[in-house]
Amino acid sequence: MKTKITELFGIEHPIVQGGMHYVGFAELAAAVSNAGGLGIITGLTQGTPEKLANEIARCREMTDKPFGVNITFLPTVNSPDYAGLMQVIIDGGVTVVETAGNNPAKWLPMLKDAGIKVIHKCTAVRHALKAQSIGCDAVSVDGFECGGHPGEDDIPNFILLPRAADELEIPFVASGGMADARSLVGALAMGAEGINMGTRFIATQEAPVHENVKAAIVAASELDTRLVMRPLRNTERVLTNPAVERLLEKEKALGADLKFEDIIEEVAGVYPRIMSNGDMDAGAWSCGMVAGLINDIPTVKDLIDEIMTEADSIINQRLTGLC
Ligand SMILES: Cc1cc2nc3c(=O)[nH]c(=O)nc-3n(C[C@H](O)[C@H](O)[C@H](O)COP(=O)(O)O)c2cc1C
Repeated sequence: MKTKITELFGIEHPIVQGGMHYVGFAELAAAVSNAGGLGIITGLTQGTPEKLANEIARCREMTDKPFGVNITFLPTVNSPDYAGLMQVIIDGGVTVVETAGNNPAKWLPMLKDAGIKVIHKCTAVRHALKAQSIGCDAVSVDGFECGGHPGEDDIPNFILLPRAADELEIPFVASGGMADARSLVGALAMGAEGINMGTRFIATQEAPVHENVKAAIVAASELDTRLVMRPLRNTERVLTNPAVERLLEKEKALGADLKFEDIIEEVAGVYPRIMSNGDMDAGAWSCGMVAGLINDIPTVKDLIDEIMTEADSIINQRLTGLC
């Protein structure tokens, strides 16, 4: 399938794997890129420029296809060395950067000078327009359904995607709730040029996370996510567990007085314990409502091949047959 996104990134299928903390290692990024999509290494999981350079080199050994690096700008206690991370991305010959969390304007000149394409993840049309105006090449439009940070507007993709299509000139991928061929065809119908998937890619053979994480996603229904940290205006959609329920109790009890320190036990530093050790109740971890559509743990290639084959049959048989 050829779309503006496949052309922009030089990939075969319009399927992107979004950056995911403690999931987006070289193994997953390379598997997605080898299967014809765009795999993305999560920069902040590596933390330092040296470690990210090493991860980029590892990914390069596993694939000769294009892959990207996600750089997330989030309020963190100790700010990462963003300049150093950007430099190793450039030196490592990476061709795509996915930015998220805040305005990437400061970094665009150096990335563009190096010929790198920038796709910025946005949860609102106004942010997507801003990304377009500062020179981003594409945006990833992340609906309220998404795993991770859906923003504070709560607009689901059935509204957000056509709104983005009405306003944007640069191409965009639909993100949040994407799982299969129906998602892809629906997203294309609403004006997107492809899809970005997070949660779906965690439940794959190659995702380098503990088996407990994959099993939890397969077991979960669309009713099992919760929104945490809303009172801090840093909303995150996570899979429910006892730690999340405890966190929500604290939010309810403290109301407007809630501070980050009150919930630090449930949110800070929990990712390695969950993703690497499989300690599923260690704290809150991002997961999309799309868990309700995930019932298997295929290889990345089987997943992408099935999406593309079924998309073809939906478009050329079911939909064509309606006209
Ligand atoms: C476990 C997990 C960790 C994530 N970490 C990040 C991150 O570090 N940076 C980022 O920009 N997005 C992150 N995301 C968001 C994804 O890149 C993607 O936008 C989102 O998962 C799309 O929604 P979906 O899960 O419904 O597919 C994360 C998502 C998950 C599920």
